Amino acid sequence: MPVLTRRNFLKASAASACGLGFGMTGNLVGTALSAADPVVLKTAKIQAQLADTGPTRDVLTYGEAGMPPVLRLTKGKPFAARLVNGLDEPTTVHWHGVRVPNKMDGVPFMTQPYVYTGDRFDYAFAPPDAGTFWYHPHCNTLTQMGHGMTGVIVVENPNDPQFDAEVVLNLRDWRLGGDGQFIAQFRPRDAAKSGTFGTVRTTNWQDEPRYDAPAGGLVRLRMAITDVTRVYSFQMEGAEAMVIAIDGNPLPQLFPLDVLQLGPGQRLELAVRMPDSEGAIVSLKDIKGTSPKVLATLRATGKSLKRDIRDLEPLEPNPVERVDLTSAQRIALSLSATAENAAVESICGSLGYAFWAINKRPWSGDTPDPTEPLAELKLGMSYIIDMENLTPRIHPLHLHGMSFTVLSSSTGPVRQLVSDTYLIQPNEKVQLGLVADNLGDWLFHCHIIEHQKSGMTCYLRVV
Ligand code: C2O
Ligand code: CU
Repeated sequence: MPVLTRRNFLKASAASACGLGFGMTGNLVGTALSAADPVVLKTAKIQAQLADTGPTRDVLTYGEAGMPPVLRLTKGKPFAARLVNGLDEPTTVHWHGVRVPNKMDGVPFMTQPYVYTGDRFDYAFAPPDAGTFWYHPHCNTLTQMGHGMTGVIVVENPNDPQFDAEVVLNLRDWRLGGDGQFIAQFRPRDAAKSGTFGTVRTTNWQDEPRYDAPAGGLVRLRMAITDVTRVYSFQMEGAEAMVIAIDGNPLPQLFPLDVLQLGPGQRLELAVRMPDSEGAIVSLKDIKGTSPKVLATLRATGKSLKRDIRDLEPLEPNPVERVDLTSAQRIALSLSATAENAAVESICGSLGYAFWAINKRPWSGDTPDPTEPLAELKLGMSYIIDMENLTPRIHPLHLHGMSFTVLSSSTGPVRQLVSDTYLIQPNEKVQLGLVADNLGDWLFHCHIIEHQKSGMTCYLRVV
């Protein structure tokens, strides 16, 4: 059975001798990478079993069959991927949260030409940060992502502490009718509110999958919300769990998971202390909304390893530059609703509506001639984005190419987390600090894709 290269995340120890078969399927198995040997990401239209009806047609993915592969990279090591477009429409790949050079960012027109049917594009970069990230197209995204093209990236750090098992969860929904086939990806009246929700919920393209993990062991659970709409409230039942990283960045101080709300595009890493008794079940739940959903379960196997979760230290921080608060310039950014300016037609898809705006301006879509940047930043200088949400909805705002630090919020004390995506609450005002350390044009948009595609997008220029 092919297994994860445990060596990379488990240092040799007595504990690592057990439990190789902890329920990883072929899909979750990493790919050995070297710069000379690009991973081929061929896009394809397939059939897949997603609901308990028959197979769903017109599912889009990377690879031959099933869920897009989990890509395993190593911090600081060169990575290469060749996108080969097998779809009958253009596409690109964006490496969400990975700080890549601008030309590798995958935004059509802004950073690269879109890739036509039958064409290819070579991506190459060395990820500076270790953590959980993900990849998806940045062209006709509501359809392409909605139909399946969302995959998880694990960037390993050889210095990480040892875990007894690792489980990667790709969390997302599908808009399927009763016959298991795709229905309209959105409803305009919902796009103007919280977005249109899926009808079938999955984890790794399955309903409530179960994974085996060593009893009494420490499991590293990596989750990515790759859904186009849904905000999750995570809760764990049956085991103690510590939050070790959010959005690909280690927490300077671990804290126990109680309930944690995260939005589309965000990632959560937990250390889970498995129960001691063989057969005991741990459930990961989403408790947002009226009907809680079990996302996945872990089952304890074997004799207890008797690990102590309090032995766990914070992971090594990523090399993100500290904001200089004394010299930082401020950038005002307000999120609002709008009824102006219907979007223009675009080869990368348009919903045909403008419902949202940034600084009163609705983004007109992916065009060869976008509006000017929200702000021009000087390389190496510090900035504070003063973002306020004038709408009654939650928005996960995602910045490409750079990481920011959450400095303060009108909602109360904040953990000063480093991130690429901030889930802003209705009427919240938040201060995000960043050092402009990556040259180029960087998109900043809501990751509820209907919001992104109906106006809530802008970009920062670093010169
Ligand atoms: Cu997940 Cu523009 O990004
Ligand atoms: Cu939004």
